[in-house]
Amino acid sequence: MLGSVGRRVLVVGWLVAASAAFAQGPRGPQAPQGLGQPPLVPVANPTPVAAPPIPNTGRPAPQLNPLGQPLAGLTAAELAAFNEGGVEFRNVETVAGGLGPIFNDVSCVACHDAGGTGGASRRTVTRFGRTVNGVFDPLERQGGSLLQERSINPGIREVVPREANTVARRVTTPLFGAGLIEAIPDSTIVLGALGQKPAGIAGKVSVVRDVVSGINRIGRFGWKAQAATLLAFSGDAYLNEMGITNRFFPTENAPNGNAAPLARFDRVADVEDGIDPLDGKADIDRAADFMRLLAPPPRGPATASSVAGEAIFARLDCAVCHTPSMRTGRNAIAALSGKTVGLYSDLLIHDMGALGDGIAQGTAGARDMRTAPLWGLRSRPTWLHDGRANTIDQAVRGHAGEAQSSRDRYGALSAVERQQLLDFLNTL
Ligand code: HEC
Ligand code: HEC
Repeated sequence: MLGSVGRRVLVVGWLVAASAAFAQGPRGPQAPQGLGQPPLVPVANPTPVAAPPIPNTGRPAPQLNPLGQPLAGLTAAELAAFNEGGVEFRNVETVAGGLGPIFNDVSCVACHDAGGTGGASRRTVTRFGRTVNGVFDPLERQGGSLLQERSINPGIREVVPREANTVARRVTTPLFGAGLIEAIPDSTIVLGALGQKPAGIAGKVSVVRDVVSGINRIGRFGWKAQAATLLAFSGDAYLNEMGITNRFFPTENAPNGNAAPLARFDRVADVEDGIDPLDGKADIDRAADFMRLLAPPPRGPATASSVAGEAIFARLDCAVCHTPSMRTGRNAIAALSGKTVGLYSDLLIHDMGALGDGIAQGTAGARDMRTAPLWGLRSRPTWLHDGRANTIDQAVRGHAGEAQSSRDRYGALSAVERQQLLDFLNTL
């Protein structure tokens, strides 16, 4: 274990490495060119997937809904990339196109749709592993830690293995404003970790190996801050949520680690997500374009009560972790360059005590969770990492660990003050 001095030295080293990394730009190296689309190999015995409902039906038309829109001030080319990316984000994958053999759903929007394309939802995924003497084993050889709960043939469905004694559900996070979060320099997040904090609150950066650039970066996406870039998350989601192999994740998941059932049903040649020679992009690139160019959730109007609530938010140290804003660095996309990002998160991981989900991932330990960005809070269907909170009030009362003192002071507020704080949270 590093002492606090050792950690500080490490973190200062990061400042230097991080700014150098950012100078390379957020997209990383160019995609390899000219691989072409993989041939569509017909499946010998295609088993129909249990007919998924067509996602996103019956929702308000996009023009009536402020969520799911592109960032303001995009160029015509960027707007085209957003629109093409949105088509891919909504695209329903088929068995012939590489879906499965094991997967969780058939499109990105099947899970990310609350309030508009790219939103959160009540949909959860399952993670499992085995914890012995406080050490978490993701049971990778048995297909962990992420469960794929559906399959293109019922006989090869993955199950939570008997060895697993730690099982957690994680609810879908929203993607509005994700490009602004991506464009925050690593060094800004590192500086936030170094800053002086009230007693009991710490917070550390999540260091991840970014599959896109191949270098260590500061993670910021996912409940554990387990990914640094949208393209990396996109590649991960194509493989792990839909079973589509891609240039960053070229190997199919074997059901519970068993090669034989995989060999029987994996009929599409890898890499399944090929590069389109017309524009040099694969599906993972298009989905990343869409997420990167999504506008942040709009702020609601302030009232006298919400203004009073904002002061309480600061007084209770909520704002120590839920940092009201950060700035993006220089960016090739003008709409992302030098912008203030009102995300209400320090993008650090905190020891949340009993609220931790028990799953260790990268530098995030079993009890560590990323400070959830609070923007767009009011349009979320459910709150906290497993969706256990049905109201924002329950979400605040669910805090523990480093946030225990904040939580206790929240519980001690008068009914009027508590309402003021909730009124403020409802403007985010
Ligand atoms: C089966 C449901 C499901 C599908 C399908 C799905 N996601 Fe997600 N997504 C989730 C869940 C659950 C999380 C939170 C996961 C975690 O942190 O462990 C998440 C988180 C994310 C995040 C992190 C956002 C943030 O700020 O934390 C990104 C980016 C993302 N998904 C992109 C995609 C893309 C792109 C696709 C399609 C290729 C996709 N997802 C398909 C359920 C899904
Ligand atoms: C020590 C850091 C810390 C402090 C202090 C803190 N939070 Fe949080 N907050 C978090 C983390 C981490 C999460 C994610 C919890 C999880 O993973 O379930 C979170 C989640 C939330 C959520 C749910 C968001 C979502 O997406 O589901 C709300 C609402 C919230 N915090 C409000 C507050 C308020 C109000 C206060 C002050 C009373 C506060 N927080 C204090 C770290 C903190």
